[in-house]
Amino acid sequence: DLETGVEQDLIGKNILITAGPTVERIDPIRFITNRSTGKMGYAIAEAAVKRGANVTLVTGPSNLTPPAKANVIPICSAVDMYEAVKSHMDTQHIIIKSAAVADYRPETINDQKIKKQEGDMSIKLVRNPDILLELGKTKGDKVLVGFAAETNNVEEYAKCKVERKNLDFIVANDVTAKDAGFGTDTNIVKLIDKYGDIQEISSTKLDIANRILDKAKEFIK
Ligand code: CTP
Ligand code: CA
Repeated sequence: DLETGVEQDLIGKNILITAGPTVERIDPIRFITNRSTGKMGYAIAEAAVKRGANVTLVTGPSNLTPPAKANVIPICSAVDMYEAVKSHMDTQHIIIKSAAVADYRPETINDQKIKKQEGDMSIKLVRNPDILLELGKTKGDKVLVGFAAETNNVEEYAKCKVERKNLDFIVANDVTAKDAGFGTDTNIVKLIDKYGDIQEISSTKLDIANRILDKAKEFIK
């Protein structure tokens, strides 16, 4: 691109990116969510658009502005995200799952505000679908990239996820590290691929986004 100086190496490539948190409703007033801001996923979407890709961004609630040229699909719950991803997965060359998906949701969503009662209360949580695991089952030629935010045993847990979910590689980060993780502009990650190759990158989220896209491109058949 003569204007931006960015090489258009992803023209004709369809890339789906999930970003941000999911929100699981309890009643009209309350919900369960997590600390994801969407920064890493939006950075990947921005980098991919600049490099000429056709980008679909499936995003949980985020204050960030998505790239103008992306096809943005806003969702709230993990089930909504699953439906959106399923309906777009067949045409994708690369799927990058940076979203922080809730593992559980309240069994029922109350139509009305839950009133306080005597004594304690508990909410039954049921398992959400594991979107990435399901994608891995019918992977075909698609490049599948996962994320793993961990607080301990980062490499070990991340490697298990690569294998269990049939991924090409995973972006693992230790969210307890300084200048890394939720809401920061920088990150420290390890790209761990299915062949056991490990690449550590400490940089801005936009730079890391480009390195993730470089590696994903290598896996396209
Ligand atoms: N993921 C997903 N659907 C879920 C849960 C996770 O697609 N219901 C994806 C995430 O988007 C991420 C990857 O799976 O790319 C790993 O998520 P993570 O929460 O680290 O792993 P889990 O398999 O949920 O294991 P745990 O939370 O127990 O560490
Ligand atoms: Ca999880």
